[in-house]
Amino acid sequence: MPYPFGDRPGFPRNQWYMAAWSHEVTRAPMRRTLLGQPVLLWRQADGRATALLAACPHRWMPLDPARLVDGDLECPYHGARFDASGACVRAPLDQRAPPSFALRRFSVVERGPCVLIWMGDGDRAEPSRVPPVERLGLGVAGWRQDVGAHQSVAARIQLVIENLFDQSHIGAVHPATLGGAHAEAISSEVVEDPHSLSVIRTMPSIASDDLMRTLMPNLGDRMINRARIEMLGAGIIASLGSQTFAAEEVDSIGLLLGELNFVHLLTPETAGRTHYFTAITRTFACDDDAFSQMLLERNALIVAEDAAVLEALEDVVDAVADRRTEVTFASDAAAICARRRIADMIDEERASGRNRPHGCLDAPPP
Ligand code: FES
Ligand SMILES: [Fe+2]
Repeated sequence: MPYPFGDRPGFPRNQWYMAAWSHEVTRAPMRRTLLGQPVLLWRQADGRATALLAACPHRWMPLDPARLVDGDLECPYHGARFDASGACVRAPLDQRAPPSFALRRFSVVERGPCVLIWMGDGDRAEPSRVPPVERLGLGVAGWRQDVGAHQSVAARIQLVIENLFDQSHIGAVHPATLGGAHAEAISSEVVEDPHSLSVIRTMPSIASDDLMRTLMPNLGDRMINRARIEMLGAGIIASLGSQTFAAEEVDSIGLLLGELNFVHLLTPETAGRTHYFTAITRTFACDDDAFSQMLLERNALIVAEDAAVLEALEDVVDAVADRRTEVTFASDAAAICARRRIADMIDEERASGRNRPHGCLDAPPP
């Protein structure tokens, strides 16, 4: 049985997911597998991003983004051609095609550097449900935004989500990059609303160091860090998002001096693979390119350390996992909270019969 949701689907479909960085979507179509389906990401002449099912509606031939004729995409099977809006500009053998003969189009919105896609039921692609990525500092004036690489991790999205909510692996997995010391929070709270889940931990005051005093000129000898893990929708997570305060006295929070987010944008590629986009945003030392470079390099190492663990887990988890004997410790509470939340989304979709891709199986036989 697939872990951890058994016979349920491994992820909710009626969500906005990250499809690509804005700069990746151009006038040349790009093919990417998202939620198990091949998708063409393309920009129309007016600059609008489109996302089209990369399968010809005649006999469902996969479309090759390199097969362009006069800027239109040609189907390799019988030669139908489509433009960047998905409209048919030439039917096979120049026959008359019905107006419905077009590439399936998914809803897309651009927010800051993110191209977000809705691959669930078209009638539920509500703009009001677009995750507020600006809350994480993406595409917001006054924030420094550094976009990392996109990679494909050979692990199901639920493993990646739970790993980001799991602070207890840091000592074992990231001893050199994040440090092995585990500090107890002085307070911890979970905040949930219909669109987000946040776990906020306020750490005890610590001595500030030279680097932090250089980056934050108003910082004194001691500082307090408030770490936040926040999930927007089903796959946009700020992990170790943190606010740094000048400590007025030991364990007493003073002035907010800066915010720093490590943003992870996760999208199911297939049942066992995940697209992993990262970005780092901050409100302090915004002109410091060397600091950005250091953060990007360190974050890439951290993600690689996580990916190695998650891919090893993915290889065996369905063969060995037994939910009846799985042991959960207090330190797993946040990850279990995230699991329950995703399970609720999947169950809600299943109850309404909406957790399946639209495709040729929807059509009645001729
Ligand atoms: S399958 Fe594309 S034109 Fe026939
Ligand atoms: Fe990690």
